[in-house]
Amino acid sequence: MEKNFKRTLITTALPYANGPVHIGHLAGVYVPADIYARYLRLRGEDVIMIGGSDEHGVPITLRARKEGITPQQVVDRYHTIIKDSLEELGVSFDIYSRTTSAIHHDTASEFFRHLYDKGEFTVMTEEQPYDEATGEFLADRYVVGTCPRCGNENAYGDQCEKCGSTLSVSELINPRSAMTGLPVKMKPTTHWYLPLDKWEPALRSWILDGHKEWKTNVYGQCKSWLDGGLQPRAVSRDLKWGVPVPVEGAEGKVLYVWFDAPIGYISNTKELLPDSWEKYWKDPETRIINFIGKDNIVFHCIVFPAMLMAYGDGFQLPENVPANEFLNLEGDKISTSRNWAVWLHEYLKEFPGKQDVLRYVLTANAPETKDNDFTWADFQARNNNELVAVLGNFVNRAVVLTHKYFGGVIPAPGADTQAETELWAEVARLKEAVSESLDNFRFREALKEAMDMARAGNKYLQDTEPWKVAKTDMARTATILYNALNLCANLAIVFEPFLPFSADRLAKMVGLNEMSWNILGDRTLLHPEGKVAAAELLFDKIEDDAVAAQLKKLSDAREANKIAAWRPEPQAADVDIDTFGLCDLRVGTVVECEKVPKADKLLRFLIDDGMEKRTIVSGIAKYYNPEELVGRQVCFIANLPPRKLRGITSQGMILSVVNSDGSLVLLQPSAEVAPGSKIG
Ligand code: 2FM
Ligand code: ZN
Repeated sequence: MEKNFKRTLITTALPYANGPVHIGHLAGVYVPADIYARYLRLRGEDVIMIGGSDEHGVPITLRARKEGITPQQVVDRYHTIIKDSLEELGVSFDIYSRTTSAIHHDTASEFFRHLYDKGEFTVMTEEQPYDEATGEFLADRYVVGTCPRCGNENAYGDQCEKCGSTLSVSELINPRSAMTGLPVKMKPTTHWYLPLDKWEPALRSWILDGHKEWKTNVYGQCKSWLDGGLQPRAVSRDLKWGVPVPVEGAEGKVLYVWFDAPIGYISNTKELLPDSWEKYWKDPETRIINFIGKDNIVFHCIVFPAMLMAYGDGFQLPENVPANEFLNLEGDKISTSRNWAVWLHEYLKEFPGKQDVLRYVLTANAPETKDNDFTWADFQARNNNELVAVLGNFVNRAVVLTHKYFGGVIPAPGADTQAETELWAEVARLKEAVSESLDNFRFREALKEAMDMARAGNKYLQDTEPWKVAKTDMARTATILYNALNLCANLAIVFEPFLPFSADRLAKMVGLNEMSWNILGDRTLLHPEGKVAAAELLFDKIEDDAVAAQLKKLSDAREANKIAAWRPEPQAADVDIDTFGLCDLRVGTVVECEKVPKADKLLRFLIDDGMEKRTIVSGIAKYYNPEELVGRQVCFIANLPPRKLRGITSQGMILSVVNSDGSLVLLQPSAEVAPGSKIG
């Protein structure tokens, strides 16, 4: 049965303030949430959208340690970048706050204390890794060791970044502290656990029976967790950074970040509405919608709901959790640590004024039902072939023709022909389709249907050809442009949730003063005699060089990753000194050097070896210009049997170093020596 709700609370996953946000965050959470919030506002509904930074947890303390600054400095820096960039993208939060705020610390603390007083926790003592040098327990990421699967010596206590395996500290071979490098000791420590098993029956019936309409990816993940049987979960950690556990005997312990972060939704609502926040959380007529990525499903559908049920006091569970899958970038998983991402704050600088283009592409290609890929080629194509060629083109033609034939004044229409009847029937159909898609969190489909409205406009102009009709029939031209302009007004409304900046410009251009979903489909929004502003392009083409610059940035990141991931080759098998001594290594001076024709890699050297001149062919042409080598000294193996390379007999081999990026660097004595001198 359809429930009737009076208001909606939209929450967006709180991003960790240990880095800026990237397109993966946007496509998964913030853009769809914002579309939904704007849509409900246009419908005149009571809606608030809550966001904020997740400022606790180990990733933040690790970042601080790496940079030699405090965790507070880390979160201050990234909270500001995240908040400002989301605002600039037009994400219309009613509040974007942070979990280091006093109100959040108080709220999270009180939440824990309430559960504690109600006896909702169990206390357990378990062995945990401990660093004796610092006197600290080590959370998962603070322990490194050898991966039992791939042998990577720097795997973390929770994951090996080389082979991608999920690990636990006990699986690591030779676990050591990431802080001191010392072997970890196991030491008993006490923590508070939320017995999720107690809530399993209630969760089963709430989700598996009560929310069959949830997205299949979300429902499926919940079912598999529930079918696997729930275990008690520790909600405290031995850490210095976080909300202190508010009970006696808990010194040095803080709330687990996944305990306090979702409470952030409540704290932020309180901060926004100190007097009326409760109605958004405790009134069954409020609909709570959590926008998250797929890695957060268990916390939002199992752990946080169990916390809310344990708390009681009327707290409502979410009505829907439309989690998205992941967005990849140019075929690879987005990664903050590998800098494989398109960062929002950089995009905004590099593509000024193009917020809507990013919003459009991320929605058109949103990972709603499966992982998807963002590519710069697709970004360019969607901008040029859809925004520019369909939406921008239609609006531009309608406005330019109105200026050309009617001096920028909206003309009065005459009677409809079939073209008008068909156009407005299509608009009415599409209004229903877009609404239905948005109501069901199908944002890609909704955007496509909105775009179909612009396509209908292009078809209308193509069929009616006002530029031809104007030669003979101004009354009919007036009808066509009146309808075209009214379609522009409708497009401003239907695109407002998706492309708020362009929708606003479009509304101003055609003189539409009111934006509301209720009037969408009305063909008389603009009145004859109204003025149309000068035509301006809503979108412009993205040229190849802008795309090339982005691809270059990514290939630079790939190179930097290769270098960062480089490790020296393992040492070769032992060789005895006499065997080594058989190798005649010498220094010579380059007398001549030139490229070998038709061989990209080869240079031909003539070397003064103190006895005669010898020819050596070497594969270093990619890294040196032949001219710069003449006169320099090189090291070479003198007693290799001669061999032919491209028809040239090479008498030896010039020694070079293979650098971490694969480039070759010539070896040279640190002072000039007599040609033919032996190396040994
Ligand atoms: O996965 C993340 O990035 C978490 N910081 C999300 C937290 S969502 C909520 F619970 F706060
Ligand atoms: Zn591994």
